[in-house]
Order: sequence, then structure tokens, then C-alpha cells
Amino acid sequence: MPHETTLDVTESSAQIGASFWAKKLHSLTGVVPIGAFLLEHFWTNSYAVYGPKAFDEAVEKLRSMPYVLFLEVGMIGLPILYHSIYGIMIAVAGRPNNLRYHYARNWMYVLQRVTGVILLLYIGLHVYETRIESSIKGVTVTFDYMVKELSEPGMFLFYLTGILSAVFHFANGLWSFLIGWGITTTEKSMKRSAYVCTAIGVGLGLVGINALLGFFGKAVVINF
Ligand code: HEM
Repeated sequence: MPHETTLDVTESSAQIGASFWAKKLHSLTGVVPIGAFLLEHFWTNSYAVYGPKAFDEAVEKLRSMPYVLFLEVGMIGLPILYHSIYGIMIAVAGRPNNLRYHYARNWMYVLQRVTGVILLLYIGLHVYETRIESSIKGVTVTFDYMVKELSEPGMFLFYLTGILSAVFHFANGLWSFLIGWGITTTEKSMKRSAYVCTAIGVGLGLVGINALLGFFGKAVVINF
């Protein structure tokens, strides 16, 4: 009978045929640069709460950065590609035991993988629409473009699911990252970091939803 607080999974780096460093790199890329980019992306999109002009200017500022394509591919695209490919290998190799043991941590373990797969689909379509297709068609992604996009209920739901999946995946991932890198080592410190990561997740979730509402002029605007 496994101990209540340990994950009853038989996954190991040896089983998925990956080296220690490959796993460490997967873990690190989840926080830097992908996690850091997620925070920046939420920040930029939050300009939507101030309306079309502020949002379009914020996006234009990013687009006109020097070496922007190099930064997008090297700092975001390749790390996401690596994290996703290795993440799929882990997701396929891991054996969830949530059906036998209904413990919160096991569910978090499963949800981490489920949201990873959702994110793969979401990021793929989101990048295609806003970066690739728009470039091919010579269309600029503006506030009005996003309003049109999000006005379709299915698309709004898709974006909401993507945002909430990214928030959960990042916040829960941060919790396991702290354990994996030996930063939280005791049950007590893991419990404390669970509170902090939950607060980060809830805060980030509210910021994401508020940005989405900004495209309909319904965001809560707080100036301080
Ligand atoms: C918004 C994009 C993403 C962010 C910010 C992100 C972030 C993270 C973080 C911080 C971790 C924790 C690493 C650790 O435990 O040390 C993690 C783990 C994980 N990620 Fe992602 N990730 C993203 C996208 C994806 C995608 C597209 C997949 C594809 C399936 C994926 C699959 C996984 C898996 C399976 C784990 C668990 C690894 C384990 O338990 O060892 N992630 N991610």
C-alpha cells in the first residue's frame, strides 16, 4: 500500500528512455523561458482592458522590436517545441493512479498532463491564426480582429479553455518545479508553496479573464 502523500506512479527517466538532463531541461524550459513568456503575454494582452488604441500600440511595440523573428523562434518557438515533444513522451509514459487513489496530488498529476495536451492544440491554433495565417494573408492582428474572432461563442470558449489550461499548467508546474530542483524539500515547505502557487494561479487566471473581457469593453479597470 503506497504512502498517502507519495505519487504511486512507475514512471522514471529510464522507462521513458530519457536522460537526467533531458528531463531537467524540460522542467527548466517550463519556467524559463516559456513560463516567463506566458507572464509577458498576459501583461501585453492586459492592455485590452484600456481599449483598442492601447492594445494596438502595445502589440505594435512588440512587433517592431529588433530581431523579433529570431527572438520568437529561438526564445519561444524552439523551447515550446522541445517542452511539448518531451511532455507528450512523459504524458504517454506516465501511469495515473487517480482511479485507484483519489488523492488531490494524483489528480494534479493527471491534470498537468491533460492541460499539456490541451495547450499543445491551443498554442498550435493560436500561433497559426495570429502569426502564420495573418502573415500569409498580410493581415495585422488588431483589437478589432480579436473582437471579431472572440465574438464566435465556440472561439471564445476555446480561448477561455486555453487561458485557464495555461494558468493551471504553469501554477501547478511551478509547484512541482520547486520540488524537482530541491527548493522545497519538506512536507511543510511543499504545503506552503502550494498556497503560493495557488495564489499565483488564481491571480493570473483573473488577469487572463479580465483581458478577454477587455475585448468586449467589460473588463474591470484598476489603476494603482
Ligand atoms: C503555456 C505553455 C506551457 C508552460 C508555461 C509550461 C510549463 C510547465 C512547467 C512549469 C512544468 C513543471 C516542470 C517541473 O515539474 O519541473 C511543466 C510540466 C509539464 N509540461 Fe508543460 N508547459 C507548457 C506547455 C506544455 C505543453 C504544450 C505540453 C505538451 C504536452 C506540456 C507538457 C508538460 C508535462 C507532461 C509536464 C509534467 C512533467 C513531469 O511531471 O515531469 N507542457 N510545464
